[in-house]
Amino acid sequence: MKKIICLFVTMLMCLCLVGCGNNSTSEATTWSEQLKTKGKIVVGISPDFPPFESLTTDGTIEGFDVDVINELITYLDEEVVIEFAQIEFDNIVTAVQTGQVDIGLSGFTYDPNRDVIFSTPYVESGQAVMVTKNSGVTSIEDLKGKTVGGQTGTTGYEAAEAIEGIKEAVSFTDCMVGFASVGSTIDAFVTDYGVVKKYADANDMTVLDGLLVSEEMSIIVKNGNNLLADKLNECIDQFLKSDKYEELRIKWGV
Ligand code: ARG
Repeated sequence: MKKIICLFVTMLMCLCLVGCGNNSTSEATTWSEQLKTKGKIVVGISPDFPPFESLTTDGTIEGFDVDVINELITYLDEEVVIEFAQIEFDNIVTAVQTGQVDIGLSGFTYDPNRDVIFSTPYVESGQAVMVTKNSGVTSIEDLKGKTVGGQTGTTGYEAAEAIEGIKEAVSFTDCMVGFASVGSTIDAFVTDYGVVKKYADANDMTVLDGLLVSEEMSIIVKNGNNLLADKLNECIDQFLKSDKYEELRIKWGV
């Protein structure tokens, strides 16, 4: 009997420890208490998406999104540093949900299947299709019977799958690998317009007229971390009204 009681008490203690170990989202009274570590925002990012996020030759992450977050934190009422955690795009939502990172920043489109908080959108976007110049494909209708790629877990892949009459949709974990496969293993690749346009211009490819879907990009935050999300929204509102916003859009061509 004693043993059973002992076991029960131990189990209760374990449960309590698990509960206390959780970054106590509901008990936080300020946005900064909802961060994993005070004074630091850990950002999950997939740098395969220029001009929004990519790696320079020395391995630094750069892009519109990077400049955006660095600008947003200047509006905060407490000082923070940004730490980037490189994660495959398809795994960022889980990383946010499990608290591995504080926010996800990677050109995230609102998607009800992603069970996180979406910030106020900071830029508009939409899904566009890229083909080679000599493919003979000049419109979305011409994609019938073709193999169309998209990045795993993206709205671009969903849009590719939904194109009527295609032969097959193929997913790529890395967006750049998908682009590089156009004209060899796939006929076309779908992703956000700004990214498609930049790649097509630099690689003598064609972007088909018209978007498959119109979208907007947001930052994602773990459910429950409403104080953090609200604070980010305040910063986004201020940023969108600032001259810096236009300046950064011009700098990165988005
Ligand atoms: N906007 C698309 C989505 O949310 C694609 C984002 C891909 N981002 C990236 N860094 N690879 O699904």
